[in-house]
Amino acid sequence: MGDPAAGERAGSGEQSAAGERATAGGGTAVAGEPLLAVADVSIAFGGVQALAGVSLAVAAGEAVGLVGPNGAGKTTLFECIGGRLRPDGGSVRFAGADLAGVPAHRRSRLGIARTFQRVEVFPELTPVEHVLVAARARQGGGMLWRDLVRRGTPRPDEVEQARALVGMVGLADAADVPVAALGLGHTRLVELARALASSPRLLLADEPSSGLDTTETAVIAALLRRIQRERGVAVLLVEHDLALVRRAVDRVVVLDSGHVIADGPFALVVADPAVRRAYLGRSA
Ligand SMILES: Nc1ncnc2c1ncn2[C@@H]1O[C@H](COP(=O)(O)OP(=O)(O)OP(=O)(O)O)[C@@H](O)[C@H]1O
Ligand SMILES: [Mg+2]
Repeated sequence: MGDPAAGERAGSGEQSAAGERATAGGGTAVAGEPLLAVADVSIAFGGVQALAGVSLAVAAGEAVGLVGPNGAGKTTLFECIGGRLRPDGGSVRFAGADLAGVPAHRRSRLGIARTFQRVEVFPELTPVEHVLVAARARQGGGMLWRDLVRRGTPRPDEVEQARALVGMVGLADAADVPVAALGLGHTRLVELARALASSPRLLLADEPSSGLDTTETAVIAALLRRIQRERGVAVLLVEHDLALVRRAVDRVVVLDSGHVIADGPFALVVADPAVRRAYLGRSA
């Protein structure tokens, strides 16, 4: 890394600015502590050290990019934050609490929402039904989605809120169409609407533009910004499309082979020789 100190200074400056914005807008950030604090997280799969002492922070209301070559450990870090994987070492703190031992569904209710690298949707359900089920999952004590879907007719106000969210992501015209009949671009928007249904404080978005064309990618970039700025949701965005990253975030963390190699404003990070080497050395 060219100048680690410069990256650190720049990163923390961005964080406090975002934190002030969020607090002014009525956020509930714990004073002095970032919304998400990942400290020294490590995990190995057999002989592969997927994460080796990763630390990063996201302030309330801040948008941060998480980039790096294929296999760098980005999705694995999301799994450790979301609770599907348990790190071998280190800690994940959210809103001032240590998440060790907290199962994934409870992390979701605490305010951590996700979209997935490979879309995880129910083909036979419509966008509105996806949002309704997610909204109920937040209230219902860890019930299976299938049970939640069968749990009676939703109230008119629930449907109205779900429609508003589906409209917010730009899917009003497809609100009642089974997702199986929608293209990938629309399906990724369904995932975003569903993630927002739980009123998250942090959105983990794993390659939301993967497989999309330039126009659809621009829609996703603009939507992520709106989610951050209008709803005050902090965003951690994993993405290979650096043009999208530049538009959607304020700060970028670069992972390479399980290590953080840069952390700072987009322009500084992409000019960093270590980052350029990491990208040029492999296909990205
Ligand atoms: N469940 C698993 N079992 C074994 N190895 C795994 C598992 N999950 C991830 N890995 C390995 O851990 C490393 C990091 O993988 P990860 O999927 O986190 O990378 P990534 O940065 O998300 O890559 P990409 O950009 O291709 O999505 C890789 O070497 C991968 O093969
Ligand atoms: Mg991945």
